[in-house]
Amino acid sequence: MEITAAVVKEKGSNFVLEKVNLEAPGAEEVLVKIVATGICHTDMVARDFVMGSPNFPVILGHEGSGIIEKVGVDVHHLKVGDHVVLTYGFCGECDICRTGNPAYCYEFFQRNFSGATVDGHHHHHDHNGTAINDNFFSQSSFATYAIAHKNNVIAVPKDVPLEILGPLGCGIQTGAGAIINTLRIKVGSSVVISGAGAVGLSAVMAAKASSATTIIAVDINEERLAFAKELGATHSINSLTENVPQRIRKILPNGVQYGVDTTGRNEVINNTLNSMAPVGELAIIGVATKPLELATNIFLTKGYKIKFVNQGDSVSEEFIPKLIKMYQNGQFPFDKLIKKYAFEDINQAVEDSEKGKTIKSVLLIGTYKD
Ligand SMILES: NC(=O)c1ccc[n+]([C@@H]2O[C@H](COP(=O)([O-])OP(=O)(O)OC[C@H]3O[C@@H](n4cnc5c(N)ncnc54)[C@H](O)[C@@H]3O)[C@@H](O)[C@H]2O)c1
Ligand SMILES: [Zn+2]
Ligand SMILES: [Zn+2]
Repeated sequence: MEITAAVVKEKGSNFVLEKVNLEAPGAEEVLVKIVATGICHTDMVARDFVMGSPNFPVILGHEGSGIIEKVGVDVHHLKVGDHVVLTYGFCGECDICRTGNPAYCYEFFQRNFSGATVDGHHHHHDHNGTAINDNFFSQSSFATYAIAHKNNVIAVPKDVPLEILGPLGCGIQTGAGAIINTLRIKVGSSVVISGAGAVGLSAVMAAKASSATTIIAVDINEERLAFAKELGATHSINSLTENVPQRIRKILPNGVQYGVDTTGRNEVINNTLNSMAPVGELAIIGVATKPLELATNIFLTKGYKIKFVNQGDSVSEEFIPKLIKMYQNGQFPFDKLIKKYAFEDINQAVEDSEKGKTIKSVLLIGTYKD
């Protein structure tokens, strides 16, 4: 079928809306009419070819939400008309997936970043029949229709607006999951969250919902810090103007118990570790552009635990519906992070995200008319 997709032609270039051909879904696949897709920093990482990204031209987009239009013959738990959120791809059959850790599936790279399916197949072709790199996060959802694998299609209730739900599939489950699934922070505990973007602010909301009593947000953007306080942070620190470890030790003389890093930056991670209480636990989420350097000998005597975390350790089938219930109860108002854009304004939406003007851009694709 002919669809419209946002194509990145070469490294670092703009998104161009184009008509391309999408084949029919395979036996274990699902065709989804996309209603909306969030923009995540990782789309930019792939556009700029920073880490193991698919090659070019490529169709990105990995926070899609929509309505099922067709299911393959081997898909039994989903049906046409279901409202769905698309999340990351995993095989579901390896020992890592089967023991509850699908975010660390052996096939994670192939199913999310390789630019094709696990068997090297492309669903999209241009009008000359040339394959386009796709299957980004098993979806490539910057498009009017997407094919996903049955494993990464999560059915959601129909009484919640579908157009806001896509970001639950990556950025929002990542931040919330770091608090709820990875660190499992306890009632009355303290946490520092570095980077108050979509991921960090989701962590702030989850920390509040988990009844942490000291929630410290660190960023370099005053507006975002103010917003973090609105969403539940008890303290905010601008690391451009304040010494983070000193300020945290003023708030908590023994140091903070938990940390979440969404910046991927050496100095920020070291500042967080230097602010932690003994046996503190740090979840690292941010994509880094440089290798991490740590003062190991100092930290050894502190008993710190560091975990590199993908997708907030989420088993999305279970976690996304939970986050939706928390949203419906008013405990997780993630819609406040979202600004909606028309599909054709994708480059503006990306620019606003990169400049820090918009926290979570969501493209309204379902209403796009060509
Ligand atoms: N591990 C995963 O599974 C996963 C999933 C989604 C996103 N990510 C990554 O998480 C990171 C955050 O994503 P996002 O969508 O929230 O991005 P974002 O750009 O909205 O947020 C990053 C925040 O960090 C702040 N920041 C930058 N430099 C800083 C510094 N020196 N000190 C303090 N704050 C600083 C920025 O002002 C911004 O508010 C990205 O690297 C993204 O690629 C990882
Ligand atoms: Zn993402
Ligand atoms: Zn697996």
